[in-house]
Amino acid sequence: MVALTLGTAAVLTLSACGGSSSDDPSTDGGSDAKVGKVGVILPDTASSTRWEQQDRPELTAAFQAAGVESDIQNAQGDKNKFQSIADGMINEGVSVLLITDLDAGSGTAVIKKATAAGIPVIDYDRLTLGGGAKYYVSFDNVAVGTAIGEGLVKCLKDDGVTSGGVIELDGSPTDNNATLFKEGYDKAIKDAGYTVAAEQAVADWDNTVAATNFTQLDTKTKGEYVGVAAANDGLGGAVISRLKANGTAGKIPVTGQDASIEGLQRLLQGTQCVSVFKAVKKEAAAAAELAIALAKGDTAAADAVATGTVQDTELNTPVKSVLLTPEPIFQDNVQDVIDGGGTTADKICTTEELKKLCTEHNVG
Ligand code: BGC
Repeated sequence: MVALTLGTAAVLTLSACGGSSSDDPSTDGGSDAKVGKVGVILPDTASSTRWEQQDRPELTAAFQAAGVESDIQNAQGDKNKFQSIADGMINEGVSVLLITDLDAGSGTAVIKKATAAGIPVIDYDRLTLGGGAKYYVSFDNVAVGTAIGEGLVKCLKDDGVTSGGVIELDGSPTDNNATLFKEGYDKAIKDAGYTVAAEQAVADWDNTVAATNFTQLDTKTKGEYVGVAAANDGLGGAVISRLKANGTAGKIPVTGQDASIEGLQRLLQGTQCVSVFKAVKKEAAAAAELAIALAKGDTAAADAVATGTVQDTELNTPVKSVLLTPEPIFQDNVQDVIDGGGTTADKICTTEELKKLCTEHNVG
């Protein structure tokens, strides 16, 4: 880790001037760095497989590689649990806190408490609007939405469908990312000359609720739609189950996001048209690098990592950010996800049918 080596001098000087974080000798991160334990709170296990299948292992690996102890907990979609995990970590005196909020209210309360205790907070993946975290690590989330929308347009055009209405199944209204994703795909869809036939935001990204929501949209539109922009693979999966029952799976293109194993399998099977790969390995590595710089009180090193900016539209302030670039994934570039460290072929090519499809599409 280059940053760790470069930061060594800064630790030695800054920890002597009472940096908020490096005064716990019990958690010495390694021979050359005194970085206390980093606390991470992930949001849930049900809205996307990414949090436990990708973020937890990648964050663990990134902190381990830097010789820093981490405590990664999951709030299981429960705002009270989110608060109590945070309270525990703050009381324990973690050096930095990384949070993926469940909504702006729960995130803001935690950021305020941690800040008051002198613990820097990084918004991880989701920006807590009005929260006041100093740093944010994520992807360019409007670009994620654009990849969803342009992917859908490509699939429609490939099928010779040049006009018609699209259903939008959006993410949670309490997740700022969902707003940004929608901004991206809504524009791409409309710019390409399609209309929005119906739309619904799915509370808490709940996949079961998504199935109910989509059934209602399907009924409401009387099946008169040419494609479905679903904001992640979990929601896309709920849509595709319904299309299977309707006999239109594979005929009506459906989108997703996260390059989840299930999503990639559906791409190969032809029931999902596009997913979006966000290399969590890079997101976790950037978050770890930033966290370590902040734990050392080395703002210059942190700023050198977080060179982007997003606007907190509640506070009307810019937030220093790391904003990574997403990649659309179709049937023929599933291998990119494997090459990018997102998953492995053996997890995707699990059945005889999938093994054959993997061979056909050069996966593995
Ligand atoms: C993340 C997505 C995820 C969704 C549901 C969003 O904030 O950016 O990757 O699918 O939350 O967990």
